[in-house]
Amino acid sequence: MSSRQLLFRVFYRLGFTPWDGHPLAESLRALVEGESALPARTALDIGCGTGDTSIYLAKHGWHVTGVDYLARPLDRARAKAAAAKVTSSFVRADATRLTSEGVGTGFDLIVDNGCLHGMSDADRDAYVREVTAVAAPEARLLIVAFRPGSSFGVPGIDPAEVQRRFAAAWTLLDSGSESAMDHNGRDPARYYVFARTGS
Ligand SMILES: C[S@@+](CC[C@H](N)C(=O)[O-])C[C@H]1O[C@@H](n2cnc3c(N)ncnc32)[C@H](O)[C@@H]1O
Repeated sequence: MSSRQLLFRVFYRLGFTPWDGHPLAESLRALVEGESALPARTALDIGCGTGDTSIYLAKHGWHVTGVDYLARPLDRARAKAAAAKVTSSFVRADATRLTSEGVGTGFDLIVDNGCLHGMSDADRDAYVREVTAVAAPEARLLIVAFRPGSSFGVPGIDPAEVQRRFAAAWTLLDSGSESAMDHNGRDPARYYVFARTGS
């Protein structure tokens, strides 16, 4: 188990999960409910935590698989989905090993709210490879990530790095400040919407 995974495990055990209950990303709402909303098909929620994004998508008709590498948040996600009376599949899997851990393929929408920005360089390499492998040919990918230095304890990821990492197989359609994570005007998070295009 990596030190980062251990840290998340301790956080969940202690109940120190400041990301729980935060407002849903406006960039996600735009893709799901906006003027040019995507048709509700299959979605993968990477690093789903206790499932808020998955449950939101399921409520809007998406067939959702939420993945996290820890059992505790997944148990909580299943309970929250049951309470919300929505069907969503929650699978224990590492985002750097999606293909070998049986998550499935051909996802039309892949969402990452706060997972990639915490990863090491090597894990980021594997993440891009795996996300690309499980995406449908014309999939959309939404990443919401802190910039470096914007949140204590989170490495963050630079916008240029996000673009560089996905350039081979994805085209950036839109990006900007994620207003749902404004944090009193400190504006720490950005969103990135990609379309699967390359080989
Ligand atoms: C900051 S939390 C965000 C949770 C959720 N997306 C939300 O917005 O509430 C990050 C989550 O990603 C999970 N995670 C981090 N790295 C992961 C990896 N390599 N594979 C799967 N899950 C991971 C953590 O266990 C944690 O639940």
